[in-house]
Amino acid sequence: MIKSLTLRRPDDMHLHLRDGAMLAAVAPESARDFARAIIMPNLAPPIATMAQAEAYRARIMAALPKGAQFEPLMTLYLTETTDPADVARAHSSGLIKAVKLYPAGATTNSHGGVRDLGQVMPVLEKMADIGLPLCTHGEVTTPQVDIFDREAVFIDTVLDPLRRRLPQLRVVMEHITTQEGVSYAAEGPNLAATITTHHLILNRNHLLVGGIKPHYYCLPVAKREKHRQALLRAATSGHASYFLGTDSAPHVDALKEHACGCAGCFTATNTMPLLAHIFEQEGALNQLEAFTSQNGAAFYGLPQNEAQITLIKSAQPTVFPTKILSQAGPVTVFDPGFAVHWQVQA
Ligand code: DOR
Ligand code: ZN
Repeated sequence: MIKSLTLRRPDDMHLHLRDGAMLAAVAPESARDFARAIIMPNLAPPIATMAQAEAYRARIMAALPKGAQFEPLMTLYLTETTDPADVARAHSSGLIKAVKLYPAGATTNSHGGVRDLGQVMPVLEKMADIGLPLCTHGEVTTPQVDIFDREAVFIDTVLDPLRRRLPQLRVVMEHITTQEGVSYAAEGPNLAATITTHHLILNRNHLLVGGIKPHYYCLPVAKREKHRQALLRAATSGHASYFLGTDSAPHVDALKEHACGCAGCFTATNTMPLLAHIFEQEGALNQLEAFTSQNGAAFYGLPQNEAQITLIKSAQPTVFPTKILSQAGPVTVFDPGFAVHWQVQA
């Protein structure tokens, strides 16, 4: 061992666990290193009511290995028929920690999402009243807007007007990918942003140069290098506005390596070693705990985790599994494309 680093156990503030066979295969991957995770509701059909969230939470608990110390933090999928009273009940019972806004058509299983924000204002007003955060998939879906501009246009035309109209609404800009996202998230108040592991590693060249890499395709799509650099500065700054949300999003290989491949990088298995590598490279290992274990809990008003994990760095590169096998088919574990010497101590 040449180095070790002990942190409060991290939280993953944006995670896709899916359901059924996939849930059974991927839940242990997150439960190994993480204490808690904000669970995305974009199942088919979506988790849109308190009753659905309760049942889904029970399925997640049943999928965890015996003795796992992992708490799923549930969310509701916002639709144009969401009932503000159901949201308020789900919040006051302690079941849900956020509501997720998917602009209809923006990503996987988003067709039931929101077309007209005006239709969901009563829900958003209720959320602002009770302090329940809105997690946003921050991309417009307007066909005329270039895919690389969709996040910046969302901030200007959707998010900023919404925050001016409802300044009390707490908002998490999910998986930001641009310098515009980084700058806007710092403007607060009542605002924060998650950053994924893969967006700290990938720019659009990694995705497209030398052949298309389907396992690097995700939404929002990776941008230019200057945007990745802005994300790196934000994540390693220790600033309270930024925290980890992996957006680990498993799809079976058959649907990733496909003529119309699904969006998503599966990083649950190796996120913490990858982040240790990146933060060390940036000379910022001392900020890793803020990013993975403190800032997210603080924004959500959750207690800090008392349990710890230890990362160790060895002379030998760490060998991660290349695939997780599910009954639905194999899932490729994210390959950063460089050797990583960190691992989480068992
Ligand atoms: O890459 C992504 N995959 N981005 C999303 O917004 C959704 C996710 C998924 O559910 O597959
Ligand atoms: Zn996601």
